[in-house]
Amino acid sequence: MPTKHHGPTGTTASNPEPDPAFLRDSTGSRLYRLHLAGAGDVDQLTDLERDVFQTLWPPTNFAREIKKSGQAVLVATVRPGATPPPRSERNSSLVERVVGGIRTLANSNADNARNGDRIAGWTVVWFVAGEAHIASIGVAEPERRRGVGELLLLGAIEAAAINDCDELTLEVRKSNDAAQALYRKYGFNAVGERKGYYVDDNEDALIMTTPDIREPEYAARLAGLAADHARRWEDAGSRFERC
Ligand SMILES: CC(C)(COP(=O)(O)OP(=O)(O)OC[C@H]1O[C@@H](n2cnc3c(N)ncnc32)[C@H](O)[C@@H]1OP(=O)(O)O)[C@@H](O)C(=O)NCCC(=O)NCCS
Repeated sequence: MPTKHHGPTGTTASNPEPDPAFLRDSTGSRLYRLHLAGAGDVDQLTDLERDVFQTLWPPTNFAREIKKSGQAVLVATVRPGATPPPRSERNSSLVERVVGGIRTLANSNADNARNGDRIAGWTVVWFVAGEAHIASIGVAEPERRRGVGELLLLGAIEAAAINDCDELTLEVRKSNDAAQALYRKYGFNAVGERKGYYVDDNEDALIMTTPDIREPEYAARLAGLAADHARRWEDAGSRFERC
């Protein structure tokens, strides 16, 4: 992932207006935000994807992607000059509460990256027949190991729940240990392989899938992860707030 092998089929959901969940510092000003991408994010997204996936061809047409129904493009933006939590050396609620968060945000007015915020990472999620497929996820190299990948994944899980999906699935390069570690942390398990999935070098992909995200066991795990994620930011002198 990402790959150009597949596209969403049978779209069922509409892409709501640009929105957002927020990370605020203790004085209430924004630190990191998670929101649905808007037209003003397209240039940064295009540049960031090129930096993160250098062999990807053709590049994603974000201007088109953000308008499509049946999918969501989420971006994590960082306030200029914000001090992020320290890099990791090594996210409240049950799904319903998380869902409540993003629903509220989806109705709010977004001031997105156009206001000078820098995009730290993005994810594209397709909603197909009760399953959410993470088509791509990436974080700018200088922003990695600070929880932005987790923030995006939490957003993807929220979006999946909002769109009545029971599970999330994705493909990941067999050699991509960092991404696999992130997915395993959030309960994804390897359920199969796709031989030669990546067109640039013919590398195989692992297929990874969550359990049913509405099962109490998974919801409890998610609540614990969301709380840990929030605490990590608070420990760094910041507050993580989902509106
Ligand atoms: C994978 C990626 C999105 C992770 O983003 P990130 O913001 O660095 O991830 P986080 O800081 O939120 O890390 C969350 C968890 O992921 C795992 N993880 C992330 N990077 C890791 C690394 N380099 N090595 C081992 N584990 C890693 C850890 O379990 C980590 O939890 P921890 O902080 O408790 O140890 C980022 O490395 C990236 O953009 N890579 C290039 C693009 C890519 O490979 N995308 C995925 C394609 S399938």
